[in-house]
Order: sequence, then C-alpha cells, then structure tokens
Amino acid sequence: MEEMKNIEVLMDEKRVFSPGPDVVERAYIKSFAEYEELYKRSVEDNEGFWAEMAENNLHWFKKWDKVLEYDFHKPYSKWFINGKLNVSYNCLDRFINSDKRNKAAIIWESNYGYISRTLTYRQLYHEVSRFANVLKKHGIKKGDRVMIYMPMIPELSIAMLGCARIGAIHSVVFGGFSSQSLKDRIQDCGAKMVITADYGARGRKFVPLKANVDEAVEVCPTVERVLVAKVQTVTGYRTAMTPDRDFWWHDEITADDIESYCEPEWMDSEDPLFILYTSGSTGKPKGVLHTTGGYLLYTALTFKWIFNNKEDDIHFCTADIGWITGHSYIVYGPLCNGATTVMFEGIPTFPNPGRFWKIVEKYGITSFYTAPTAIRSLMREGESWMKKYDLSSLRVLGTVGEPINPEAWMWYHKNIGQEKLPIVDTWWQTETGGILITPLPGAIPTKPGSACKPFPGISPAILKEDGTPAGPDEGGYLVIKKPWPGIIRGTYGDSENKRVKEVYFSKFPGMYFPGDSARVDSDGDFWIMGRVDDVINISGHRIGTAEVESALVSHPSVSEAAAVGFPHDIKGEGLYVFVTVKGDVSPTDALKKELINHVREVIGAIASPDKLQFASGLPKTRSGKIMRRILRNIAKGDVENLGDTTTLADPFVVDEILKGML
Ligand code: WT7
Repeated sequence: MEEMKNIEVLMDEKRVFSPGPDVVERAYIKSFAEYEELYKRSVEDNEGFWAEMAENNLHWFKKWDKVLEYDFHKPYSKWFINGKLNVSYNCLDRFINSDKRNKAAIIWESNYGYISRTLTYRQLYHEVSRFANVLKKHGIKKGDRVMIYMPMIPELSIAMLGCARIGAIHSVVFGGFSSQSLKDRIQDCGAKMVITADYGARGRKFVPLKANVDEAVEVCPTVERVLVAKVQTVTGYRTAMTPDRDFWWHDEITADDIESYCEPEWMDSEDPLFILYTSGSTGKPKGVLHTTGGYLLYTALTFKWIFNNKEDDIHFCTADIGWITGHSYIVYGPLCNGATTVMFEGIPTFPNPGRFWKIVEKYGITSFYTAPTAIRSLMREGESWMKKYDLSSLRVLGTVGEPINPEAWMWYHKNIGQEKLPIVDTWWQTETGGILITPLPGAIPTKPGSACKPFPGISPAILKEDGTPAGPDEGGYLVIKKPWPGIIRGTYGDSENKRVKEVYFSKFPGMYFPGDSARVDSDGDFWIMGRVDDVINISGHRIGTAEVESALVSHPSVSEAAAVGFPHDIKGEGLYVFVTVKGDVSPTDALKKELINHVREVIGAIASPDKLQFASGLPKTRSGKIMRRILRNIAKGDVENLGDTTTLADPFVVDEILKGML
C-alpha cells in the first residue's frame, strides 16, 4: 500500500436519532442494554453463541462435532465441523409442510411493471427440485462449477437454489459485465455449464446475454452445456442455439423424463456453496469462496435481526443478485427465514424516478434496502415522486455499498423514513458474506453517516499504521480480530490460501483487514471512511484501478495508463483515467471515445471512465512507480495541495497534466 487515502477524519456530524416505541415493539432486540448484554455474551462465549444460533436457525441433517477451528495466521477458518445440511432444504423443504407453504417466497416485478410473478414456497420448491434434476440430466454433479449470467428473473434464484440442492457450486456473473469478463471467470473456475437468458431488459436497454455467452464459450472448452431461459418475447428477436450444447430452460424443465422431486444432497458444512468474483487492488478479480453452513447461518441471522423480519413482512432489496448483496439479502437470508423477498428486474429511474416507491406501495414493502448512490440520484429528482405513493407500510430502511453522506441520509430519513423509521447503514463486503457493522433497529440509536455497532459475534478494532489501537475519533485501519461464520474461506483455485493471506491477513498478521479505514467516536460508533487501497467504489460497485489500467493498455494505441477515483455527486466515486498514447498515435476525441468504449467492452459498463485525459507522461518516482497520490489530487481538483513532488523523475510532467486537466 503505497499511500493512504481516505483517512481524513470528518467529525462535524452530531445528530442522533433514537428508535421510537413502534420500532422497539417490533424489534428482536429491544434496547441498547439488551444489545450490550447480547454482544458481551457473543464475544465472551463466541462458540457457544454461534452454536446456539446454528441450532435455532438452521435445519441440520447431522449435527456438527465442533463449532470452530481457525488460525488467522495460516489463515483458515472452519465452522460447524462435520455438520451436514443442505441450503435449498433450509430455504424450501422446511416450509412446504408448514403454514408458510402458500406464502409468497419470491415476488417478481418485471422491468416494465405490468407483469409480475409470485412464487409461493410450495411453487418455488417444485421449480427448484425439477431444475436440480435438469442439472443432473445434463451431467452436473456435486462440486461442479456452474456459471449463471442472467437478468433479474425468478429463474436466476431457481438456478442458484437448484445448484445448492445437488451440491454444484454456482458463480453468478452480473449481467452488466462484458463477454470478456464472463470468459475470464468461466476459465478461472473451469465451469461446466452456463445458465443464461436470451437477453436482459433493464429500463430501455437490452443486454444480449446469450450472444455474449456464445462469444465467451468459444474459448472455454470446459463448458459442455448452455441453458437458456426465455425472457418475454421481443418481436423479431432471434436466439441462435448451438445443437447439443444449448438447451431452452422451458423445454428442459417441463420434459417428461424430469421428476418433480430431487433428493437434497447432504452437504458438509464446509462444502463450497458459491464463488463470487470481486475486484481487488491487483490483477484480475478473484473468486471469493463461501461455504454452506457458516454462510447460511450468518446471512439468515443478520437478515432477521437487522431488518427485524417478522411473519407478515415483505422485504425489498434493490441490488442485483450478481453482487453479494443480492446473494445474501435477496436470496439466501430471506428464504432461509421463510420470508417474502421482492426481486426487481428493472432500474430505479424507469419508466420514471418514482419506480421504487411505486413498488413499495404495490406490494406493501416493510423493509427496503438500497445503496447511497440510488438515494442520491433519486434525491436529485425531487420530492414529488414519492409523494404520489403510499409509503406507510415501510418499517425499516437500509443502505449498503459505500459511505452514505449525511445529506443523503437525512433526505432518506425525512422523505422515505417519514422522520420515524430506523435507517440501518450496513457495512460489509463480498468477503464477509453478510453485514458486520450496523445499527440494530429498536436497540441502537442512529447517526447520519455512521454504521454504528458491530453485529453480535463480530470483533472489530481500529489500528494505527504501527498496529497499535487508535483512540476515539483518531481514525485508522479497520480490522476484525476473530472469525465469524460468513467469512471468506478462500479464493478459487488457491488451496493454500496464499492470496487470502496476502490480501487480508498480512497488513496486521493474525487479523482480518478488509481494506477500509474507519474511526470510532466516543460513543463507540463506527464511521467508515472508505478504501485505503487501489480499489474504487463506483455506485457501490468495486472496481480495481489495475483492472481498468490493464484494459486500457490492451488497446493498441495506448502506451501507459493510470486510473484513479474522484468524488462524484451521484456515484460516490467516479473514474478518472490518464492515458499516454504510443508515439505515432494522435490523441483525438475520436480515440478518447474509442478507449472509453474499449474499457466497457473489456470489463463492462460499470467500469466506463467518467473522464479520460491524454497526457504526454505520467508522474513517476525515479524507480518508475506511478505516484497516484498526485493523480488523485488532480482528479479531485485539489491542485494547491499536490504534496511533495521532489522525488519525481520528471516534475514537468505534472505541469503538463495540470494544463490538460478535465
Ligand atoms: C466495500 C465492499 C457489501 C455489499 C456491497 C459492496 C464499501 C460497503 C459500506 C457502508 C461504507 C461501505 C467498503 C467495502 N462499503 N458497505 N455501509 N459504508 N462503505 O460489496 O463490492 O464487496 O464492496 O464497499 O469499502 O470494503 P463489495
């Protein structure tokens, strides 16, 4: 880590909001004293606490022999050793002979809104069981990797649960990623099958998913089958199908030789459940591995307590299932609780910026979970949109993905929260499986911009560079000292966990370092400040600057590139890239467009640079290292304060860049 960013401490926010009596009454944890007692017990008798939770919240075919084995120096952690269970059994079979059998498991709201589908627990069970048999028929076995590249349609959840039922490891790739990104991920985990749809509809845009898959699998010899779900027919849309490789979902699932019941596989607690790729500060995205027992328990319990989920609640998480938020808080957390979860295919601004609120009214949403970037973009559209709808069903609001600025928090509180609903600002990551730091509604007073307190069983701390604890409001590196059931088990293909060790356990040996800085105030509340590494957070999505740079230099006109983040009103961070072109190339506007497009093609639209500046050279130290701190300050417009430039090999480069600043 070359230079620290995001370590400035901002402390002028002093407002505190205490939960009202209605919130307290419905809450699982009803007071701060109760939280404190629970928290104390959860860390003092960590294993006892998690054992009790595992007993009460999950169904085990066979109980575990030992709760936990771990060593954060190696590092590894294993939970509920030798316990046997099945995720799809826990999310479905448990409920089909109970009062929940006719309860809505998934409510699906289509992109256009005039079509919706509800799958009861019984129906979802039926579809998943049949689909699991389809997987088997096409040769998928326990441990095989199955890639899922789909729009937000119910088949996506059915595919995940179908994999879980037979012990296949799914890896969902967000539909906004390019064909090339999909290819990289398929190759990394050696997937045997890709499940996709003919296309995806998001707002007014169409994503040619199947065509992207075709392009990707051409160079992926491990892929034997492609299953294709048909999205509503668009006039004239033709899907090319390769015989013996490609099969339609609807043909397969209704086939006569498919039985309706599929026996759930008895999975070991530590058997992999899924791989989800995420960006880091170096190289290609890594395949974060989550396993069965610990992950399921952690998402189930955090979902229940943080969203105060009760029998008649309807939960709406606006994320895409292509991200961990969707895995944990659209699919596994809610379904494992027998809750009703809403899946939304579209985008917040289509057909207009009232869409979320319309959905809230239509289904009577009680818990609503979104990202600060969505709040900021809707805030810009004014208050008239939500005033048209009845939001009185709402009871808990949540945010995730990036720090929320107090203005956006207050807007959310006032306009959506009607000045009385608790807002849970939840801090976590792909690697943590579920939420680690958050207020618990009913128990913990909230502050605009603070993620507040550790969830029971979580032991965070803030350390200074030298590894000593930071004092109140001092700021430093966030670390987690003990394992929790949802922690990353490894990255795919690295059985010795070298990468995990290097990325998360080497800055402070023996502790998990997530890559964020934070401070704790004098009340013990956590304020997350942001990433300290070369990962930027665009609209709550993680992009490694190294990935963007390597995408740029893969273009024949580019000689060198540097990518940095800059503060962006809506996205949180925007992407600013500096590019030097090869000697014989002229830096034209047309080339600029081409390069931006090139990044979209290599990675996907989410990595599309907001600003691209041509430079004749990049600021480097004498040893050839790019000084990103300088570029970050330029991108921010903070040119007064470029810091020490004396170690630069060629200080004039900076003057040149300043002249061309965007
Ligand atoms: C990074 C993880 C967790 C699901 C979505 C993103 C940032 C996440 C918060 C929050 C401040 C946050 C962190 C983290 N982040 N939640 N409430 N406040 N920052 O998952 O793609 O794995 O990204 O998002 O920087 O490290 P992810």
